[in-house]
This record gives sequence, structure tokens and C-alpha cells, in this order.
Amino acid sequence: MPSYKEVLRNSQQELKEVGVYEQSAQLLMLELANQSAADLYMCYEEEMPSDLLAKYMEAFARLKQQEPLQYILGYQWFYGRQFIVDENVLIPRYETEELVANVLADIDEYFPEGTVSMADVGTGSGAIAISLALEEPRVSMVASDISEEALGVARKNNANLEANVEFFQGDLLEPLIERGVKLDFLVSNPPYIPDSQVLEVSVKDFEPNVALFGGVDGLYCYRRIFERAHLVMKDRCILAFEIGYDQKEALEALAKEAFVGDKVEVLKDINGKDRMLFIYHNV
Ligand SMILES: C[S@@+](CC[C@H](N)C(=O)[O-])C[C@H]1O[C@@H](n2cnc3c(N)ncnc32)[C@H](O)[C@@H]1O
Repeated sequence: MPSYKEVLRNSQQELKEVGVYEQSAQLLMLELANQSAADLYMCYEEEMPSDLLAKYMEAFARLKQQEPLQYILGYQWFYGRQFIVDENVLIPRYETEELVANVLADIDEYFPEGTVSMADVGTGSGAIAISLALEEPRVSMVASDISEEALGVARKNNANLEANVEFFQGDLLEPLIERGVKLDFLVSNPPYIPDSQVLEVSVKDFEPNVALFGGVDGLYCYRRIFERAHLVMKDRCILAFEIGYDQKEALEALAKEAFVGDKVEVLKDINGKDRMLFIYHNV
């Protein structure tokens, strides 16, 4: 049997040749061996056990095809918790954790007492909805998605993480409108990539199209949410969205037209990119 070191060296070389991030091989090995990096270095020269080697080689073949590591492992960390992910859901991104953090800060500031009625529209794996519900026990959360398969993943995460989110299948706000839901706070990370944008293979070929593309200019879902939002908003309400880094001007204009007189704010992420849109209605 080859040693850990040999297997790792070979696979890093192979990843380099196909343009996949080399360190993914080590991350995969650490996860499958259930070891820390320090433990792995301790046994670096030892032979890899045959069952582990077989498991690793099977997963490595997928990595070489540019499948995201998170789908191979079946999970992604988000806001300190492990979320199940599969090919039916977008892999939650680190940028979206910043949306969650800003929403939590606004709950403290604008809704400091009592129950906060919230919805996450286009919930995917449930990462936003479940994190908010667990971080702030005053939140009463519903979440929607058009994809029944995505909702299956979100429900599993909700059960595993012992959250109490209620999920509805349907088109954007429609399932909320049908049920007469009225919100203090609406959150959404809708698909916002323009249809013609060229994406990396690992995204384009593996993540669900319905989670990525937002029409010709990427703004289709925002327009539709803005048009119908008044039907689910309480008199005082905040709306918070993740946005594409180059969509600030277009979305500010759309939001000011749809929510006349309301404060509209775009926040930057940790990399200095315009990433979040907040609309404050009577707060
Ligand atoms: C960018 S992903 C966000 C997923 C998750 N909220 C996150 O932040 O990781 C967008 C989600 O919106 C859902 N979606 C797309 N079009 C929709 C529609 N018309 N109505 C409801 N959900 C939709 C997709 O299925 C996908 O789960």
C-alpha cells in the first residue's frame, strides 16, 4: 500500500494538471481519515489502510472531475454549523454569513423585544433560515423554495440542527401570500447571476441552475419580490437581500422606485464588494 505522503503528492500533482485547487486533496484526506492536519503529519510515512485508500480514490476521482468538495463530503459549514448539501442545493457561501450577521444586528437594533416574524425566500439548504432561527430564539421563521428537492435537504438540516423553521414550496412570495403571512423581516439570497455569464466548471456543471441564474440581467427575482412584497410586509418591516457585487446601482434604483421614501442601504462584504441590500420600511 502507498503511504499517505505518496498518495497525497500524486493526487496534488494530478489536481494541478487539471486546474483544481491542490489543497483540496489534503482536505479530502483529512475529512475521510477523520484526522486533524497535525495527526496526519504524524503518520505521513505510514501505509494508508486499504479501506481508507479505496474510499479516498473514489472521492478523489470526483474531485478531479471538478465536483465541489462539499458535494463529495456531503456537507458545508455555515455560521458554525454543519449543513447537509447535495446537488439539489447551492453550497452556502461565506459571503452569505455576512448577510446573516447583519440581519442579526438589525434584529437587535430594530426589533429588540418580542417575537420577530421572518421569512427566507429561496432557502436552498436552509442555511440562512436555520442559522437565524437558532441564533435568535425570538425569531419565528418560515422559508420557501421553488425546488421540492432543495426543501427536502432544508428539512433534513432543520431536523438535524433542531431548528423550528416551517417550509413551503412555491414561487417566491406566493406561498407566503396564500397563507396570509405578515413579516417583520424578509431575507433572501435569490439567484442573481445573469443568464449569459460564464461560470467555473465546478459551479456551472454541479450546482443547480435554478439556484444560480436570475434572468438576462440577474435581477428577475428581485423585481418580482419587490412587486409583491407589500402583501407580506407588516407596517414596520425590513427587507434584506444578498446581491451581486456589480448590481448596486441597478438594485438601489429598483428599490427606491418600489419602496418610495424608504431608506435603502447597500453594505459591503469583508472584501469591500457591494453585497447586501437593506430596505427599511417605517423603522
Ligand atoms: C442563490 S440560491 C440561495 C440558497 C440559500 N438561501 C443560500 O443562501 O445558500 C437561490 C435559491 O432560490 C431558489 N429559487 C429560484 N427561483 C425561485 C423561485 N422562483 N421561487 C422560489 N425559490 C426560487 C433556488 O431553488 C435556490 O434554492
